Amino acid sequence: MQEDKLVCSCVGVTVADIRTAIENGAKDFDAVQEATGVSSVCGACREYAENVVEAILNGE
Ligand code: FES
Repeated sequence: MQEDKLVCSCVGVTVADIRTAIENGAKDFDAVQEATGVSSVCGACREYAENVVEAILNGE
């Protein structure tokens, strides 16, 4: 995955930010959202953000 790719433009969350949240203990999408704020504004990034979370949790 491209680590500097922007996942959520409203909040400015990248793939790397999501990875950091997971490394710091976030175990699911809700926990990543709480830690990063991803998908907390317009929601347009939600499906993509969920896929990124899933991929990282699966070891990508
Ligand atoms: S792009 Fe993520 S909440 Fe708007």
